[in-house]
Order: sequence, then structure tokens, then C-alpha cells
Amino acid sequence: MSNPPVLIDEAAILKRVGELADQISDDYADKGDLVLVGVLKGSFIFLADLSRRLSIPRIIEFIAVSSYGTGSVSSGAVRLVMDVRGNIENRHVLIVEDIVDTGHTLKYLIGILESHRPASIRTCSLLHKAESAEVDVKIDYVGFSVGDEWVVGYGLDFGEQDRTLPYIGTVAPDDRNGG
Ligand code: PRP
Repeated sequence: MSNPPVLIDEAAILKRVGELADQISDDYADKGDLVLVGVLKGSFIFLADLSRRLSIPRIIEFIAVSSYGTGSVSSGAVRLVMDVRGNIENRHVLIVEDIVDTGHTLKYLIGILESHRPASIRTCSLLHKAESAEVDVKIDYVGFSVGDEWVVGYGLDFGEQDRTLPYIGTVAPDDRNGG
């Protein structure tokens, strides 16, 4: 099977991740440990690269939700699979997502994390499908805006395939039907 066509190449991703890390480091300078909450599974590569480029003290946490199951259409129903493990009360929290599509997942996550009474919550997503938004949720740091295509690679999957591609690629609609 051939590799998916490139939408955003590796160099462009790493350049943008560096820019986001610089901006976040500036914004959180002298505010103590920043708690990065990676949303499993899709954010794991973005989180790894982003966190290592920050120049501020940071703590890594993970949270897991389930929304899409194995299909490619959002059900809008989000379920908490695993909450953060550490105590985030009175700490500054940055949610790190690979992609925001309808926005349901991010909105749900903000609610869950607010219940832990952090000092603040901001959001960061490598990709944003702005045209697909169904709920109003603010993304403070966005890597790239993308269209309605299904994207894979750099953590994102299609049917659990292609997460480890070093670039963001697209899956053709024909392949989606067979996926
Ligand atoms: C993806 C992505 C976000 C969510 C965004 O996760 O990582 O968490 O969908 O969609 P929304 O804005 O429409 O809610 P997915 O359910 O594919 O799980 P995964 O990260 O484990 O692949």
C-alpha cells in the first residue's frame, strides 16, 4: 500500500512546533510549572516534540477520552477513559490536542479539567478543522488550519493506521469507505 499524499511535510511541522513552543514559553514565563495535558492517543507525538522545545519548567500528564470509536464520523458523544493522575489544583494547565474537529472533545475536556480547580486552562492543537466546528470552544494555540479532509500521521490515525508517519497526510474519500 502506498503512503498517503503529503499535506504538511515534516520540516513545516517541526518549524511550527518550535514557533508554538516559543510563544507558550513566553506566555508562561515565571509562572511556575506548566502542566501539559496530552489527550490520548492522537497527541502523543506532538506533545513529545512540543514539550521538549519549551524553555520553561513543565510537567506531563495524560488524559484519555473516546469519541470516534473506529469509524471516521464524530458521534459527538465523548466518554472519559482515563483522568489525569497528578494533582493539578492551582496549577496552570495547557491541553494539548492533535486535532480539533467538531470541538465536542475539547469542550468536554475543559469541563473535566475545570473540576480539578487548576489556576488556569488554555488549549493548544496542532490542527484545527475550523469549518467543522459544532460547538464554540477557544483554541489558544493553533498549529495549522486544515480543510475537511481526513488527515493522518504525526500521531493521527485512520483505523489505528499511519500514526507514526513523520508528516501529515490525507486519506482519500474512497479509502475512507474501505477503512
Ligand atoms: C480525535 C482527536 C480529538 C478529537 C477531535 O480523537 O484526537 O481528541 O478526535 O474531534 P472533535 O473536535 O470532533 O471532538 P479520536 O477520537 O480520533 O481518538 P485518538 O486521539 O485516540 O485517535
